[in-house]
Amino acid sequence: MEKMETKVVAIDSNNIDETIINEAGLIIKRGGLVAFPTETVYGLGGDGLNPESSKKIYAAKGRPSDNPLIIHIADIKDLEKIVKAIPESAMKLVDRFWPGPLTMIFEKSEAVPLETTGGLETVAVRMPSDKVARAFIKAAGGYVAAPSANLSGRPSPTLAKYVIEDMNGRIEMIIDGGASKVGLESTIVDTTTDRPMILRPGYITQEMLEDALREEVLWDRAIIDEDCKTPPKAPGMKYRHYAPKASLTIVEGLEGQVAEKINSLGLEAVNFGKKVGVIATEQTIGLYNSLFNIKSAGSKENADDAAHFLFKILREFDDDETEIIFSESFEGDGVGKATMNRLIKAAGHQIIQA
Ligand code: TXA
Ligand code: MG
Repeated sequence: MEKMETKVVAIDSNNIDETIINEAGLIIKRGGLVAFPTETVYGLGGDGLNPESSKKIYAAKGRPSDNPLIIHIADIKDLEKIVKAIPESAMKLVDRFWPGPLTMIFEKSEAVPLETTGGLETVAVRMPSDKVARAFIKAAGGYVAAPSANLSGRPSPTLAKYVIEDMNGRIEMIIDGGASKVGLESTIVDTTTDRPMILRPGYITQEMLEDALREEVLWDRAIIDEDCKTPPKAPGMKYRHYAPKASLTIVEGLEGQVAEKINSLGLEAVNFGKKVGVIATEQTIGLYNSLFNIKSAGSKENADDAAHFLFKILREFDDDETEIIFSESFEGDGVGKATMNRLIKAAGHQIIQA
């Protein structure tokens, strides 16, 4: 890959600098790449209708090119050009959740190159709510293909400094818009099937979707059933993701017992000279041995906290050169389901009982 100078610029979402946004838009129109903030995680953007841009995205991420990209739009009127049809269920979800952290799968139109969809005849589309993202997408011509702005396999970036860590020298520009609000990638729903189906859990939960649609929403079995033999419908869900450099183990069970188990396993590792980290909560942080590198994923009472902090914590453990991490398990309801989905992937399915 060709090494390049990466320009890093900060943009205040309450006072968007048009000159910088237009410069970023022009880079995309000319076939270059710009990382930008969204409310979920940072995206690595290129022109979604230009096959050469999509190829560059795969190269910059080191990502297998059978893993399709999401096209980001800023205006609902722009949807028509890139899809064959807008099913009624999709229209209801647009009304309720766009702009926001929801991606939908549609039959793609001729305008979308197969390079962007990883060879599929369907296309994933999202309209983010982040103001900087939307101004940038407009300036870029309306169709920004963007995966999360991390190197393939690393935790998705929720701060510009992590984008810089992974993408410096690989892309033309990085827009720093502060911390991502949600902290986990969007919920993905397939609306091309008879019944809408969740392909990736996120901030928009099954209950919220069902409430908007007034019908049952299904799950792609491959993401909820470990023994499922069919591959996931979102090709990206099959890869080991979000992996910290350390080995990560989730410990399930009653609060006190979990802490006891982690303390005993952790001390054993410390005695072998290992650097040990723990993912705890505000309520449990005091239960752990102070020899460990303990990080809080926020309050147990607020499920949004763990979603917001998880990827940041995983990156911090990398920076601290932590070698062994133990994590508490999080409530599996609502957004907690999405958090647990990412945590289990990060742990490569290593879960033990206290
Ligand atoms: O929140 C998000 O969705 C972030 C921000 C930047 O918008 N983007 C993101 O992109 O998470 P990425 O590329 O890391 O994940 C996209 C997921 C992958 O699992 C991919 O396989 C799936 O979407 N996907 C994309 N197009 C698809 C399609 N046509 N059919 C099924 N799955 C698709
Ligand atoms: Mg990703």
